[in-house]
Amino acid sequence: MNFELSEEHKMIQQAAREFAQELKAGVIARDEEAKFPFDFVKKMGELGFMGIMTPEEYGGAGMDTLAYVLALEEIAKIDASAAVIMSAHNSLVLWGLNEYGSEEQKRKYLVPLAQGQKLGAFALSEPEAGSDASSQHTLAEDKGDHYVLNGTKNWITNGGNADIYLVIAQTNPELGHKGINVLIVEKGTPGFTIGPKENKLGIRSSDTHSLMFSDVIVPKENRIGEDGFGFKFAMKTLDGGRIGIAAQALGIAAGAYDLALAYSQERKTFGKPISNHQAIQFKLADMEVEIEAARLLTYKAAWTKDQGLPYGKEAAMAKLHTSEVAMKHTVEAVQIHGGYGYVKEYHVERLMRDAKITQIYEGTSEIQRLVIAREILK
Ligand code: CAA
Repeated sequence: MNFELSEEHKMIQQAAREFAQELKAGVIARDEEAKFPFDFVKKMGELGFMGIMTPEEYGGAGMDTLAYVLALEEIAKIDASAAVIMSAHNSLVLWGLNEYGSEEQKRKYLVPLAQGQKLGAFALSEPEAGSDASSQHTLAEDKGDHYVLNGTKNWITNGGNADIYLVIAQTNPELGHKGINVLIVEKGTPGFTIGPKENKLGIRSSDTHSLMFSDVIVPKENRIGEDGFGFKFAMKTLDGGRIGIAAQALGIAAGAYDLALAYSQERKTFGKPISNHQAIQFKLADMEVEIEAARLLTYKAAWTKDQGLPYGKEAAMAKLHTSEVAMKHTVEAVQIHGGYGYVKEYHVERLMRDAKITQIYEGTSEIQRLVIAREILK
């Protein structure tokens, strides 16, 4: 077993670390104003981050899942919103297109997405289909050479600013999950409208919207895979997506820890730095241990996927544990900062707000436990 990163992995980690320093400047204002980081998304495209796992022949950087996780972790330490924009785009859109898309779909959609010229969004959730993902009410009526799409999607990350959407919809309700399909829908298609931006607790500079489809005509060639493959496509996509969310949560936890550690060595009470007080030392020690354990689970899930082994359980374990560590230790980072932690200039209150969503999206902590339990009881 070798815990040493390769030279290539160290390089991508360093490149992401340097890029994250650029993100720092406006991060508080972007959060406050819920302002999408257009320039930085463009820069992430130029750096290859927006197609990091896509093969070079389709415009990507051709790197592995571990490289993706390392980059996300560094970006999320500074700006968790930028991290989720990159994560939803890569894990939930590009991965499935590359894995299951036809050659024509890859040339037309994957290449500009991987080159960072276009942004992707994954539309699975609905007002009545969150945890119960197969309960799809969006209908894709089969009309021979095209589908007619009707319905509403909720909580769609990159929803307002994406160009290309992977939309999950029910074609044959009587077949249940076996009647579900995934369709590629372009922004601007008649009948496709985007709802107002959600005003969120955290990850405020990423955009989250509902989507409305009213008699939207989608050509048959825009369906990914065989008829009825949509639910399995979504489940497989989410397995990989959960590794991305684990990496985001890891970055949030590690970013808050870095800030708390530095602050504890500067801030003095009772005549000495607070890091000399045992109450603070215990918190720092717990952060060091639990964040490192979360890192190992996350890197292992990425490694398992890169080995071509089944990774659904590993991804759920990484996401479950890392998101809980992120929530717990961002709260502790605020506590270590005392009153300063409660104001925006010190960054930890934002990281605490950003942490919460990692226990909710791409499956709540309860769903991760369900996925893990099903695997171990199989
Ligand atoms: N890989 C491949 N196939 C899978 C699978 C997987 N991981 N999980 C299930 N399947 C298959 C099963 O084998 C089964 O197929 P067969 O009938 O052929 O045997 C089929 O799918 C149905 O499986 P289940 O009966 O287990 O499905 P279920 O309805 O009980 O649901 C669930 C299982 C795990 C609860 C699932 O609904 C789930 O993951 N829910 C959470 C959804 C979620 O994470 N939503 C997040 C939205 S996206 C998002 O958040 C993005 C963002 O903003 C960033």
